[in-house]
Amino acid sequence: MPGVSSETAVTDVWDFAVELRSDPATAEARTAVLAEPAFGQAFTDHMVVANWTADDGWHDQKVTGYAPIKVSPAAAVLHYSQEIFEGLKAYRHADGSVWAFRPDRNAARFTASAARLALPQVPEDAFISALRALVTVDEPWVPSADSGETSLYIRPYMIATEAALSVRPAREVLFGVIASPAGPYFDTGPKPVSIWLTTSTIRATPGGTGAAKCGGNYAASLAGLAEAVANNCEQVAFVDAVEHKWLEEIGSMNMFFVYADGRIVTPELSGSILEGVTRASVIELAADLGHKVEERQISADEWKDGVRSGEITEVFASGTAAVITPIGRLAWPDGDLTIGDHSVDYGVGPVTKSIRSSLLDLQYGHIPDHRGWLTRLA
Ligand SMILES: Cc1ncc(COP(=O)(O)O)c(C=O)c1O
Repeated sequence: MPGVSSETAVTDVWDFAVELRSDPATAEARTAVLAEPAFGQAFTDHMVVANWTADDGWHDQKVTGYAPIKVSPAAAVLHYSQEIFEGLKAYRHADGSVWAFRPDRNAARFTASAARLALPQVPEDAFISALRALVTVDEPWVPSADSGETSLYIRPYMIATEAALSVRPAREVLFGVIASPAGPYFDTGPKPVSIWLTTSTIRATPGGTGAAKCGGNYAASLAGLAEAVANNCEQVAFVDAVEHKWLEEIGSMNMFFVYADGRIVTPELSGSILEGVTRASVIELAADLGHKVEERQISADEWKDGVRSGEITEVFASGTAAVITPIGRLAWPDGDLTIGDHSVDYGVGPVTKSIRSSLLDLQYGHIPDHRGWLTRLA
């Protein structure tokens, strides 16, 4: 609802003015992008924007042509990183309908991130109505149901636009949503990735912003990623900031360990770990598949010793972009370990595979959605 005051406890769905762009991509150009969608490279014709001021609350919600946004060089986001974002996907089902997977969880996490970064709240219903407004207008950009593991990646974000160099919560803010067709993360099925265990850089600290989805966390993770690449690894695993021994996250994914007796262990939410929507879903789906799931502290030494002894049989990471990523190798400054049997299925273990299939089957509507995890967007 435009013009809603920030003081009101709003739960409304927002109304969006729609300004269709006069120069959308041609059908041929769109088809070319959809034929080979790389991750986050091409964007749909439109975007959502809404403005907030401390005096007037949220206003001017609209769907408009995708274009650069204008901010002052003094905008607080550029200096003090007062910024948050989300990431989720819309999936085309066989009947042509388009669905989001647990968008209420992304909405709730966006609310929690906003609180941590002293940004205004977007009501959760309004967040979902913004997704629906954009996907309704740009529906032709959602890849077809027969194009494999393709989807429309949706990126909501909020930035402090106030031009003021004082360090304090901004009084002017922009909320936006953009979308990008996404191809299968793995062209030829899931392939195990290699992980560098860094102890020289830390991603997040107790009392810090690790549990929020804010840009600063990602900036803080890049030196660790660069260190991983320099050591011939594809991704980086971070440990906790206090004892430097408890596993937290892999890059932008949560992690899971499969034990020979069928148990699955994932690091418990420590306050400095991002609570993944995929993580929460894996915990429930793994239990359905008969696994006992433990959320507890797990150390880097338990990982190494478990792989060496054969007690840990599979390791995988979870996140919206790649769904489930098998981990095939762990390296650190004075060691290197292979995980799993790489002579079978490229080293993708059976538990990793079955959990991955369960998730994808749900997301693409191949199996009934008993839990009501899907929300129709178009
Ligand atoms: C730091 C971090 N951890 C975990 C995840 C996985 O979260 P989700 O499953 O909601 O995509 C992400 C991705 O959003 C992330 O950026």
